Amino acid sequence: MSFDDYDIVVVDSDEEFLAEAKAIFEGGATTARTVADAQRLVEAGDLDLLVLGPSNAHEAALESFSLLLELDSDLPVVLATGTITAQLLRAALRYGLRDVIQAPFTAEEIHQVLRESERRSKRRLAAPVAPVAPIGPKAGRVITVASAKGGSGKTVTATNLALLLARAAGPGKVAIVDADLQFGDVCLVLQLEPKLTIFNAAQDIDRLDNSLIDSLLTKHVEGVSVLAAPLEPAFADEVSTAVLIEVVSRLRERFEYVVVDTASLLDELLLSLLERADDVIFIVDMDLPSVKNAKLALETLRLLKFPSSKIKVVLNRSNARARLDEGEIERSLKMKISASIPSDGLVPASVNEGRPVVLSAPRSKVAKGFESVAALILGEVAESAKASKKRWK
Ligand SMILES: Nc1ncnc2c1ncn2[C@@H]1O[C@H](COP(=O)(O)OP(=O)(O)OP(=O)(O)O)[C@@H](O)[C@H]1O
Ligand SMILES: [Mg+2]
Repeated sequence: MSFDDYDIVVVDSDEEFLAEAKAIFEGGATTARTVADAQRLVEAGDLDLLVLGPSNAHEAALESFSLLLELDSDLPVVLATGTITAQLLRAALRYGLRDVIQAPFTAEEIHQVLRESERRSKRRLAAPVAPVAPIGPKAGRVITVASAKGGSGKTVTATNLALLLARAAGPGKVAIVDADLQFGDVCLVLQLEPKLTIFNAAQDIDRLDNSLIDSLLTKHVEGVSVLAAPLEPAFADEVSTAVLIEVVSRLRERFEYVVVDTASLLDELLLSLLERADDVIFIVDMDLPSVKNAKLALETLRLLKFPSSKIKVVLNRSNARARLDEGEIERSLKMKISASIPSDGLVPASVNEGRPVVLSAPRSKVAKGFESVAALILGEVAESAKASKKRWK
C-alpha cells in the first residue's frame, strides 16, 4: 500500500509525531507545524488530505483549520488524537472535518479515509445538490429502519410496517424509500418490478419536483408507494446523500408516513438519515454478533449526542434457539427493548412469495410481532409536527 499517488500534509507542533507520521507514509507526506504553514501548502496545490495531529485536538485549532476549507472546500481534513471525546467529535463535525481517528493511526486507516473521500467526490460530481424545497404546512412522519448488522430483518420489518401503517392510514398515505443503495430488495420482498428508481432522481436532480418524484414511485396494490433502490450496485455511488435527503424531504410533504429501509453501514448517509428521522426502529437480531454491533453503534450515536428517545429497539427472532437473556441484552445496550418479533419460517416463505406476513398470515404470531412495531409508531402519532419540520430544512 503506497501513498505515492497522493499529496498528503500532516500538521502538528510535535516533531516526534511528525516523524512517526512520516514513517507511516513512508516519506510520502509533507509536514507542517502551524496553520500558516499548512495554509501555504493548501494554496500551493491540489491536496488530497490534511491530517491534523494531537496538538490540534482542541476547538480553537479546529476552528482555524476550518478556515482552510474556504480555500478548498473539497479538502478532506481528519484529526488524529489519542483520546476521542464526544466534545471533540461534535467540534469536528461543526468545523467540517471529515473524520476523527485514533492516534497513532495505521496506513490502512488513512487509505480508508482516502477511498471514502474519492467516493464522495465522485458522488458530488454525479449529483449537484438542488436547492432545498420549502417545507409545506403538512409534514409526514419519517421512520428509519436501521441495524448494525446485515441480515437482521430490516427489510422484512420495513415492508410489514409500511403495510400496517397503510392499513391504519388508508391507501396513498405511505411511502417506502429503499436507501440500501447497493443491495436494496424492498421491491423483491413486495414482488414489484420497478421501472424507475432513486438513481433517476439523482440523474435529474436539477429538475427534481413532486411530479418527477411521483413518476419514480412504484405502486403496491395495498396502497403503498415504493421508491426503489438503484437496479445495479454500481449505480449506488451516483446517488448522493443530498439526493436522498432531498427526496425523503419531499416525500414527507405528501405522505403521512415515509418508511426508510437502510443498509447496515454506519456511514455518513445513514447518520444523515438517522439525524432527520422522527423515529428510528433499530433492529437487533437475537445473536451475539448482532448485540455486540448494536452496542457499538448505539454507543457511537450516544457520543454524537443522538437523542435516544427517537430510537426504538426491536428484538428480532426473539424466540431463536440460541436464546439470549433479554434483560442482559437491555443492560448491554443500555436501552429497553420496545417490541419483539419471533422467529418464524413464515417470514422466509413470505419473502420468496413476495407477500409480507401481515398480508399472507395476518393471524400468525410473527404478524402480531410486526403489529407491535407498528403500535410504537401509531401510538405516538399525536407528536407535534413542528420538531420534525425543522430537521428537513
Ligand atoms: N423473524 C424472522 N423469522 C424468520 N426469518 C426471518 C425473520 N426476520 C428475518 N428473517 C429472514 O432473514 C433474512 C434477512 O432478513 P432481511 O432481508 O429483512 O434483513 P436485512 O436486515 O434487511 O438484511 P440486509 O442487511 O441484507 O439488507 C430473510 O431471508 C428473512 O426471511
Ligand atoms: Mg435489507
